[in-house]
Amino acid sequence: MRRQHLTQLIGTLAAAVVIGLPTLASAAITGSAHDLSGGALSGGEICNVCHTPHNADATVSDAPLWNHEVTATAAFTLYSSTTLDATVGQPSGVSKLCLSCHDGTVAVDAFGGAAGTTLIGAINAAADFGTDLSNDHPISFTYNTALSTTDGELFDPSVDTTSLGGTIAVDMLFSDNMECASCHDVHNALGNANLLLIDNTGSALCLTCHDK
Ligand code: HEC
Ligand code: HEC
Ligand code: HEC
Ligand code: HEC
Repeated sequence: MRRQHLTQLIGTLAAAVVIGLPTLASAAITGSAHDLSGGALSGGEICNVCHTPHNADATVSDAPLWNHEVTATAAFTLYSSTTLDATVGQPSGVSKLCLSCHDGTVAVDAFGGAAGTTLIGAINAAADFGTDLSNDHPISFTYNTALSTTDGELFDPSVDTTSLGGTIAVDMLFSDNMECASCHDVHNALGNANLLLIDNTGSALCLTCHDK
């Protein structure tokens, strides 16, 4: 799991509790693209669009206390290429959560049992990927030492190459799997453009894994 991310989030929440104010840090989910508290159904809350403390949906593996309707898309079109070494599968748990809004099949405001009405394309067309992921960076595959050895131009994920304080495996992968959240910081805890886990100036994000 992503150590730094968790530490930062806890830090942010702890600070909010100590000061007794809503989270005011500049790098935070508040005010970010994932602050959907302006929607009619959220009751002014931020987290409840995606999480709930009780009666969460436990059917998706790796879903943290999930409150949002999950995509029913069973067969996404996957990335493929003749040079790809990885075996890419259908989006697994943690990426399915992202695609529950970003594949454009489930309303953004479909949470807490409500059906919702607003698809993501109506909010931001560029954030609507549809169910064809063949033109997107591959996700939901195992990225381990064996893959980096076979590929020859990937860093070994068990070695510390990230700017986040740990190895690629610890800071970016989910049980050795590459997912949407390997590149993205869903809570904007780090404050990078495009909710990125590592700022991509000079392609620093890409060069964390790709030895080019
Ligand atoms: C737009 C959806 C969304 C919103 C809003 C959201 N989260 Fe999350 N959260 C996720 C997803 C997806 C994951 C799993 C992926 C990951 O951990 O990066 C996650 C993971 C978590 C985790 C477990 C992993 C970690 O990062 O620590 C915690 C705790 C958490 N969220 C708390 C919160 C809190 C508290 C809020 C409100 C301040 C919040 N989230 C708002 C989508 C959201
Ligand atoms: C509850 C629905 C929902 C979920 C779940 C969700 N998103 Fe989003 N996301 C949105 C919406 C809506 C926007 C567009 C907001 C806007 O443009 O105002 C967005 C925008 C983004 C952006 C663009 C940010 C920017 O600054 O323009 C990124 C990147 C992103 N999401 C990644 C993710 C990833 C990765 C996950 C899973 C870890 C995820 N999202 C889960 C609803 C969601
Ligand atoms: C290999 C890293 C990587 C992975 C994996 C990844 N993204 Fe991104 N994403 C980026 C980068 C870098 C950008 C910003 C630059 C760009 O759009 O080319 C971005 C941009 C976005 C945007 C904003 C698009 C726009 O044009 O406004 C959204 C939304 C998004 N990603 C969601 C996702 C979702 C959902 C997944 C999983 C299905 C995902 N990303 C997987 C690196 C990644
Ligand atoms: C967390 C690690 C990670 C990050 C960050 C990352 N990648 Fe990747 N990327 C991989 C892995 C692993 C593969 C699978 C390589 C393979 O199997 O041949 C891959 C595959 C690719 C491929 C397809 C290769 C092929 O043979 O078809 C391209 C192109 C690519 N990445 C470009 C990028 C770019 C550009 C960025 C930055 C926006 C980026 N990657 C960020 C890990 C990463």
